[in-house]
Amino acid sequence: MARITAGIATSHVPVIGVAIDQGKTQDDYFRPLFEGYEWTRRWIAEPKHKPDVVVLVYNDHASAFDMNLIPTFAIGCADQFQPADEGWGPRRVPVVHNDADLAWHIAQSCILDEFDMTIINKMDVDHGLTVPLSLMFGQPEAWPCKVVPLAVNVVTFPPPTGRRCYALGQALARAIESYPQPLNVQVWGTGGMSHQLQGPRAGLINTPWDKRFLDDLSADPERLRNLPHLEYLRETGSEGIEMVMWLIMRGALGERVTELHRHYHVPCSNTAVGHIVLEPQSR
Ligand SMILES: [Fe+2]
Repeated sequence: MARITAGIATSHVPVIGVAIDQGKTQDDYFRPLFEGYEWTRRWIAEPKHKPDVVVLVYNDHASAFDMNLIPTFAIGCADQFQPADEGWGPRRVPVVHNDADLAWHIAQSCILDEFDMTIINKMDVDHGLTVPLSLMFGQPEAWPCKVVPLAVNVVTFPPPTGRRCYALGQALARAIESYPQPLNVQVWGTGGMSHQLQGPRAGLINTPWDKRFLDDLSADPERLRNLPHLEYLRETGSEGIEMVMWLIMRGALGERVTELHRHYHVPCSNTAVGHIVLEPQSR
């Protein structure tokens, strides 16, 4: 059977991709940000930690979806996905290859488990998905694992609740652990942390709130599951709601986890960057 061996959360700020693509990771501005990912890059390169498949939870930023089509939870089931053109041409990163059999299995399992996923066979993937891959794997010729894209609407109100996201993570675990191939699967949650991109509060960062979120992601996810949208909005800015995607990852790991690594850095662009690596304890 497939196993979920780890969960990773990270911000997916577009400028991180620009810094990697343009060779600026060692610039004074970016160095402290990237140093916080060094541990994970070494860890994930070890053969026993290298995933066969990553279920990558992210949000599309009006690249594949727009006001014509707003799926709350969408799973990519095609064989591959091209990097999206977000206005400056597509990033020069590898094509994303899916494990389509596993993706279809997850779709079937989740839908029959009462999560009505939207099945997507044609979409380009934007920085929300490619920046986390670049952060963990650098600039390879091909991504070293298959990637199942799981897109969540956090752009147009109403995004799903934290409770719903956590429960989707639990359903995702049931799906993955009933897949009869001996795959090492990681679940990644991306987006966040506190940030507001527009309006009078643009640039808002709430470090104490973010750090408590990181603490509780390991130790008290029950508190996080119950945070209302208004608290994310008030305390973490209009884009902080992206953090509900981290709860899908956390829900997939089971009740108890071990925190392997954490990184928090301000600022990147006008956001707070957060990163955490969790391992499920045996269940
Ligand atoms: Fe985002």
